[in-house]
Amino acid sequence: MIGRLNHVAIVVPDLAAAAALYRDALGARVSPPRPLPAHGVSVVFVELPNSRIELLEPLGPESPVRGFLDRNPAGGMHHVCYEVADIIAARERLTAAGARVLGNGEPQIGAHDKPVLFLHPKDFCGTLIELEEA
Ligand code: CO
Repeated sequence: MIGRLNHVAIVVPDLAAAAALYRDALGARVSPPRPLPAHGVSVVFVELPNSRIELLEPLGPESPVRGFLDRNPAGGMHHVCYEVADIIAARERLTAAGARVLGNGEPQIGAHDKPVLFLHPKDFCGTLIELEEA
């Protein structure tokens, strides 16, 4: 059911420093920082040949990644995002299998303007999974 790895998201305490690290030390192509107030993050996209990394810095007091950064002050891997062809079909299959969908269970419009769902990390090997309808 799942398709391509769309991105891996890493929460960082300093977006400019993290972008410089990926650009200068790792030699990656990085986007300019982009504030996404509706999602409570600023993001830098790191383009890789086969996927991308999203560097996320909390934006605003209600940021959904603020607590994560409080628990991981140096930053850390936050979630992986897999593409699915039909997000409702994916949700039905997963909930039938006993997996928990976060929030109200309805797809939200994600950072790429596509429907997304998040799955409970305790149901998936301790990893927060985002599904994005590609
Ligand atoms: Co994501």
